[in-house]
Amino acid sequence: MDAIVSLCKRRGFLFQSSEIYGGFQGFWDYGPLGVELKRNVREAWWRDMVTSHDEYTAPDGAVSSFDMVGIETSIIMNPQVWKCSGHYDLFHDMMVDCRETKKRFRFDQIRGRWATNGEAEADENKRVFITTDAAPEEAVDDTERRAAEFYEVKKKYGKKFFAEDSTIETVDMSWLGPDAAAAGKSLDGVLALGASKVGTLTEPREFNLMFKTIVGALGTEEDAAFLRPETAQGIFVNFKNVCDSSRVKIPFGVAQIGKSFRNEITPRNFTFRSREFEQMEIEFFCHPDTSQDWYKYWRDRRMAWYKAMGLSDERLILREHDPDELSHYSTGTADVEYAFPFLDDGEYGELEGIAHRGDFDLRSHMEGKLDEKSNPLELQLDADGNPKWKGSGKDLQYFDDQTRERFTPHVIEPSAGADRATLAFLCEAYTEDEAPDDKGVMQKRVSLKLHPRLAPIKAAIFPLIKKLGMPETALGIYREMKAAGLNVIYSQQGAIGRRYRQQDEIGTPWCITIDGDTATDGAVTVRDRDTLEQTRVPVSEVTNEILSRLRG
Ligand code: GAP
Repeated sequence: MDAIVSLCKRRGFLFQSSEIYGGFQGFWDYGPLGVELKRNVREAWWRDMVTSHDEYTAPDGAVSSFDMVGIETSIIMNPQVWKCSGHYDLFHDMMVDCRETKKRFRFDQIRGRWATNGEAEADENKRVFITTDAAPEEAVDDTERRAAEFYEVKKKYGKKFFAEDSTIETVDMSWLGPDAAAAGKSLDGVLALGASKVGTLTEPREFNLMFKTIVGALGTEEDAAFLRPETAQGIFVNFKNVCDSSRVKIPFGVAQIGKSFRNEITPRNFTFRSREFEQMEIEFFCHPDTSQDWYKYWRDRRMAWYKAMGLSDERLILREHDPDELSHYSTGTADVEYAFPFLDDGEYGELEGIAHRGDFDLRSHMEGKLDEKSNPLELQLDADGNPKWKGSGKDLQYFDDQTRERFTPHVIEPSAGADRATLAFLCEAYTEDEAPDDKGVMQKRVSLKLHPRLAPIKAAIFPLIKKLGMPETALGIYREMKAAGLNVIYSQQGAIGRRYRQQDEIGTPWCITIDGDTATDGAVTVRDRDTLEQTRVPVSEVTNEILSRLRG
């Protein structure tokens, strides 16, 4: 992972936000190559989801087509949206604060190890849970060092304070939560990061993840609004507008790509968990009777997309949620997960969730906040029996003019993160192997084996030397390719082997070299980044050749 992070900085894929001021945790900037890569990820998604969606074959063999349209909604919306969606009441993480260091931790992510003072080995209450936020491979060393410090012994004796079965584990609520206190496992026995003594952590508290802002000049609490934590709600509240203004008929989907914001307590793992990130979401509206078929359709189709864009079978899984993980309104959710290199062996990180949301969102925006805990869903009421958060009161049902049926559509939501997908493609592409240098001697090289559609630069055009008409021919090809809409570069500096390596490292799939033979045979060499194969292609055909290779 360190090598990938360093390449991203060195070659201009990703920078820390506000780096010259020491950065800003949870925020990232995309550099010149990163912005092209992410734009290609978005475009590949939009093309597959919206512009070139294909026919659908139902389980009974009937073939039909369906509409997919796009939308772009505002980041700040009427605060009522978040009250009815449930985010105002429920979108929170549990966190604990350290009274001594004033640091804040996400409760379900505290990891560490139990350490036992030699004399108190048998006494569970004298055990200390030493927390760490070191990378998994360094977590053991880090806690041993801190155990030694805590028990005031030399570092090399740190090991002896650990119970044999004690491993680095991630704390979850059931293990150290309120119920566990009765079992003697309270937060009093925790030595928090940076603290000098145990017992400095507060009890877990809820922390809403939405960023608050003030709209208007008065600046009162009534003017508080929120940066959207998901793009999905912009689609739900426009359901009626889309139906009334376009020719869509159920089933149909609405797509949106845009920034979302979450005040994550512990942003981490490069761009994986950021406070500002981009989502690519579809809300697919269908008849309740066919919703299970559509759920399966989108789940499988999304998994296939990641594979088609280059993620390997071995590192990708589709994980169906267990029934007890599902919200009451959902009859199915599956996550597409990827084995990111910063995770422990056997662990996967979520790239996308595909959720069957039933009619929960449309009904909440019609009637008011539904109680997610009751089944069937009922309106959430305040102490006086009035709706806790009133809905829009607008009719968000769908009328099918062929069957004359009026119903509230069910929704299937494939919700992906553009930054997580970009990071996964970068991780998968990063390769260390060997390639011959100018003298034919094999040398180590780093390459990004990105899918050509995702690669920031599609081809690099090189004159072998700066004379004998080679630069002129090369510039002619360069201009022709630019005019054809290809993002290509021209370079005449340095030995050819070095120029190849520079392009391999940023993922350019093809290098085109104009050499001494070009003047006589009218052809150039096209070198493939992955196979290293070199083919002669006529100058007049090289643009079409690259275009056709890109189309696959
Ligand atoms: N509308 C449903 C929804 O927002 P989610 O699972 O909370 O569902 C969907 O988010 C996707 O957005 C995730 O699978 C992930 O790819 C991305 N995402 C969520 N939180 C993120 C964060 N803090 N940083 C980067 N990406 C994030």
